Amino acid sequence: MSTPFDFSRFLEEQLLAAAKSAGLPESFEPGVRPTEPRFGDYQANGVLPCAKQAKTNPRQLATQLVEALDNVEGFPKDDISVEIAGPGFLNFKLSPALLLDWLKEFSDEDALKKGAGSLLAGETVVVDFPSPNTAKQMHIGHLRPMVIGEAVKRLLAFAGAKVIHDDHLGDWGTNFGTLIMAIKRAGVTLDPNDPEALPKIEKLYKEGTALEKEDPALRDVSRNELVKLQHGDAENTGLWKQIVTISGKAFNEVYGILGIHPDLTYGESHYRDRVDRIYTELTDCGLAETSEGALVVFHPEHPRFAEQPFIIRKADGASNYASTDLATVLLRVEELHADRIVYFTDGRQQDHFQQLFLTTEKWFQEKKHDLPALQHVWWGSILGEDGKAIKTRSGEPILLRQLLDEAVNRAYTIVAEKNPELPEEVKQQVARSVGIGAVRYADLSQNRTQDYAFAWSKLLAFEGNTAPYLLYAGARIHSIFRKLDLDPYAGDFAAEATAPETDTELALARKLAAFPTALELALGDLRPHFLCTYLYELTGLFSSFYNADRVMVEEADVKARRLLLCARTLLVLETGLRMLGLEPVEQM
Ligand code: ARG
Repeated sequence: MSTPFDFSRFLEEQLLAAAKSAGLPESFEPGVRPTEPRFGDYQANGVLPCAKQAKTNPRQLATQLVEALDNVEGFPKDDISVEIAGPGFLNFKLSPALLLDWLKEFSDEDALKKGAGSLLAGETVVVDFPSPNTAKQMHIGHLRPMVIGEAVKRLLAFAGAKVIHDDHLGDWGTNFGTLIMAIKRAGVTLDPNDPEALPKIEKLYKEGTALEKEDPALRDVSRNELVKLQHGDAENTGLWKQIVTISGKAFNEVYGILGIHPDLTYGESHYRDRVDRIYTELTDCGLAETSEGALVVFHPEHPRFAEQPFIIRKADGASNYASTDLATVLLRVEELHADRIVYFTDGRQQDHFQQLFLTTEKWFQEKKHDLPALQHVWWGSILGEDGKAIKTRSGEPILLRQLLDEAVNRAYTIVAEKNPELPEEVKQQVARSVGIGAVRYADLSQNRTQDYAFAWSKLLAFEGNTAPYLLYAGARIHSIFRKLDLDPYAGDFAAEATAPETDTELALARKLAAFPTALELALGDLRPHFLCTYLYELTGLFSSFYNADRVMVEEADVKARRLLLCARTLLVLETGLRMLGLEPVEQM
């Protein structure tokens, strides 16, 4: 038997096979999860609900199941011990020899990826982020879509999904009317090569809205500019194109710093001629109705959406966010063959997505389109140290470029102070990794649906659940191998390794073999913080091991197994960090 990658899944499968041969009800779900070390490595708690349903004694059912498990072909009974505990829990313990097999088998990132690749194999997932609105500079509000989106994208790809990344730019809104009005009034020409072009556009827009407030007649002028744009007027189309180009250029700079590389950037404008089909189909199947001149969808069964309309065409006939999003789902199914679509925005858009998903479900069922799984990954706000929404002193949003530059500068100061001997080039590279990594990690390590406070001192700290702590732990393992002139990613030192023995070795080995469970948890509801917690705990167990068990001992087999544990900790740590979007360093 080859070593299972994911022991909890493996036990699930084995228990299902055992349940079948023991004649347990079809509804039996094993419910395997990692457990506290005093109980073992994994626990299955599915017997109890099953016994309750079948009205039998749970301990008796558990005994039957364990007997059947013994006879399941391929169940390694010498290496996995089972015990019935309490009212009918099953506790499993892996042998040190099995842990050693795991450590030897999963020896590089490809091996881990191959192991994880069966989780989502064959699934095509479209991820939609950061999808900013054009004509505005990226600010701190755009951090979470990029950081969370990229981590989830990498997680999905690691688990074997075919991921298509579509950056759904907000490039077709009513704001273009105001913007074009303001540009024409100011008589300016836009220059895509001007590095200040986007800030200038942003300023013009603000001036435009202020003017409209003062002089309501200007609103009609703006509306007229918008209608002209929508009807393909050459001058307005030219201006619009320039604005989109200038925005895209500025976005790409920030994307580059954060390693964001969309496959597609269709944007809302891509759907401007595709919305008519939406109106027809939704009206055809009786979902959409006219209300006060607008085309809307209600959901009578829903507590709020029975009254609160989902407006899919405005009273003036224009398309909107909802119509383009409906057309987008259709395109992603028909042209991209999406099995799942994941949207990333902050929590304020929850209603929009609930209405979008409800509407799509009903419409697709009526029209017999293939319904993909639809997921909205949302999050809370970033707060300042005062607990209020974060802003600059003058009340403006903090620009993302500036925030990221500051992160790298602060990290540079720390790195230069801690390790002045590092060559300048390395210092700069480490500062980038630590600075950007710290901003990312502070965001990802929180449960995303909660708000979090942005504090430089906390995110750049070398203690606690932070990027510097984890990056430093990796660098320390690199230095162990450097001193021995060994390559942690070449396995030759591991040949003589014996199975883990001491408590600290065993605890570390178990944690390493539980990496797949952390991945599954993070994938479950697309919450990367589960992976962060895992890496933090892994690093803590590594420290305990490294303090308690000397690596450089005489006995070749003991030394080999300890080096093996060091190397695999590094592998899992670096693989995990990269998945979160961080760049590991070899020294710092
Ligand atoms: N442009 C939107 C915003 O800035 C986010 C778009 C998210 N994607 C989508 N398909 N609705 O809020």
